[in-house]
Amino acid sequence: MTALSNAPTSSAEPVPAVGFAGLGRMGLPLARRLLQSGIPVVVYNRTQSKAESLVPAGGRWVASPRDLAKSIGKGVTFLMLTDEKAVRTVLFGRGGFARAASEGALVVDLSTIDPEESRANAAKLRERGVHYLDAPVGGSVDAATRGELGLFIGGEAADVSRARPLLERLGRRVDHMGPVGAGTSSKLVNNLLTVGITALSTEALTLADAFHLDRAQILDVLQAGGGRSGMLESKGPSFLARQYPAQFTTALARKDLRLIERAASREGRVLKMTREVRKLYDEAIAQGHADEDFASVLEVALVRGHAATPKPLPASPPPSGPTDGEGPTPN
Ligand SMILES: NC(=O)c1ccc[n+]([C@@H]2O[C@H](COP(=O)([O-])OP(=O)(O)OC[C@H]3O[C@@H](n4cnc5c(N)ncnc54)[C@H](OP(=O)(O)O)[C@@H]3O)[C@@H](O)[C@H]2O)c1
Repeated sequence: MTALSNAPTSSAEPVPAVGFAGLGRMGLPLARRLLQSGIPVVVYNRTQSKAESLVPAGGRWVASPRDLAKSIGKGVTFLMLTDEKAVRTVLFGRGGFARAASEGALVVDLSTIDPEESRANAAKLRERGVHYLDAPVGGSVDAATRGELGLFIGGEAADVSRARPLLERLGRRVDHMGPVGAGTSSKLVNNLLTVGITALSTEALTLADAFHLDRAQILDVLQAGGGRSGMLESKGPSFLARQYPAQFTTALARKDLRLIERAASREGRVLKMTREVRKLYDEAIAQGHADEDFASVLEVALVRGHAATPKPLPASPPPSGPTDGEGPTPN
C-alpha cells in the first residue's frame, strides 16, 4: 500500500495516518469524517481543547505543527485555518510544519487564502521536497458534516490523484481547476457570488418589509421564481428568526471580500459592485456582528433601508421656469 492509498480498512495492512491542522468550525467536522471512515488522524490545533472530542474517535493530538510533520512523514496533511497569516505560522513559524517535513509529504490547504499566497507557500515547500495542493471548499459547516462540500483544487495532476481518495471522503465534488493557485482563485470567484447574493437578498427583504409583505411568504415565493438561490435557501431561516448562529462568520466573509478586491486589483480589474458589498460587511463588523453568521448583514440592510426613507415631497410643484440653463427644450 502506498502512503496515500488509504484503502478501506478491510486491507490487512494498517491504514497510514493523515494529519489535520486547524479544528475550527470547518476543520473539526472534516477531521471527524476522516476518522469515521476508518482513517487514523493525527491532529493539531492551537487551542488544544477543540481537539478533545476527536480523541475518543481515535484522533491523536500533537502539540505543534512540527510534531505533526514528524508523525505523518511522507503522508498527507490537511490545513483548515483562518487566513494566510495562520497558514504561514503553521507551515513556516517556529515549531512549524516545514521544520520537520519529510521529502515527498503532501500538504493540502483547505483554507481560503490569496492565490498568490498559495503559490508562494507551494514554492517554499517545494524547496524542501514537499508537495502542495490548494483545495478550498464551497459549502459550510452542515455540508462539511455531511460530506457534501465542493472542493476547488489547484496543483499537479499527480498530487490530485494521490489526494483524491481522501478528498472524496470530504466532499461530493472534487474539481481540479488548474495549477497551484487555481483552487483559491476559483474559491474567490465562488465567494464573490455567495457573499454578494446574500447582501442583495438582504436589500430585497428590506424592500419586501417596506411593502408590508410577509417575510416567510415572500421567501417561499422567491424560491419558486427566477430570483431563487442557494444562499436564500440556506440563510432564509436566519433571515426569518433574525438570529445568526455562526456557520461562516461575517469576519471571514469580509476577509474573503478583501482577498477578492486585492486579487482583482492585481489583475487590473475593477469590481465596483463588490466594493459596495464589502462596505455592507464593513458596516456589519463595525456594528458588532463580526462573530455572528454573515447573514447578520440583514441587520445593517434593514437599518440602512430606514435611513434612506425620503422626506415627504413638497406640497406645491417646483417653479416651472428655467433656473439653471437646462430649461425645457424649445419645440
Ligand atoms: N465556516 C465556513 O462556513 C467556511 C466555509 C468555507 C470556507 N471556509 C474557510 O475555511 C477556513 C476556516 O474557517 P472556519 O470557519 O473553520 O474558521 P474558525 O472556526 O475560526 O477556525 C479557524 C482555525 O484556524 C486556527 N488558527 C487561526 N489563527 C491561527 C494561528 N495564528 N496559528 C494557528 N492556528 C490558527 C484556529 O485555531 P484556534 O482554535 O486555536 O483559534 C482554528 O483552528 C477559513 O479560511 C474560511 O474562510 C469557512
